[in-house]
Amino acid sequence: PRAPRINPSILAADFVNMQAELARIATADFAHVDVMDNHFVPNLTFGPQMVERIQATSPIPLDVHLMITDPDRWAPEYAEIGAASVTFHLEAAADPVSLARRLRDIGARAGVAIKPGTPVEGLYSVLEEFDQILVMTVEPGFGGQGFLPETMPKLRALADEVRRRGSQVWLQVDGGISDATIEQAAAAGADTFVAGSAIYGADDIEAAVTRLRDRARA
Ligand code: DX5
Ligand code: ZN
Repeated sequence: PRAPRINPSILAADFVNMQAELARIATADFAHVDVMDNHFVPNLTFGPQMVERIQATSPIPLDVHLMITDPDRWAPEYAEIGAASVTFHLEAAADPVSLARRLRDIGARAGVAIKPGTPVEGLYSVLEEFDQILVMTVEPGFGGQGFLPETMPKLRALADEVRRRGSQVWLQVDGGISDATIEQAAAAGADTFVAGSAIYGADDIEAAVTRLRDRARA
């Protein structure tokens, strides 16, 4: 099986000490950057100017998660900044396939995310257009929420379809991932794990990252 990736969400970091907060996650795989526009979700974080500074400062590549309306218009900007991956929401995109192609053309991994209530079957015929699929395990908008186990059958079905088609697409989960929940997400087929409060809330961040990785592998 593929080595699990652990992507700490800097939504749980101290925003005014971002340089130091980024340095603390140097042993993780990607820094997960939650862009929220107070429209697609009822919360507001940062935009391209801040993400560009985070990109310049981060010891590890950026995994940008766009919780914004009209990603068709804004997502390419984050790829231009140099983000390793740019994930937009299926619910918000007018033309997900052409947007994914544009992101890849710029050089980013193209990701698509679905909310807990969004069916996944619509993605089966276009799996090859994406490098990663994010199955949200909470309603997007806030850190520190409880993991929704009812999203697991959907992830399992997607993972089966990915295997059946021999696809290399990464399967990501985001929301409520902790020592207590990561094993069930891994068992359902996730290979990439976003965790905010479980990592930034730990006394020893490096140990928390290693522990999550070990549990996902088990
Ligand atoms: C929620 C964000 C998540 C959030 C996860 O809308 O997409 O990335 O930071 O935080 P935790 O791990 O605390 O649930
Ligand atoms: Zn996120």
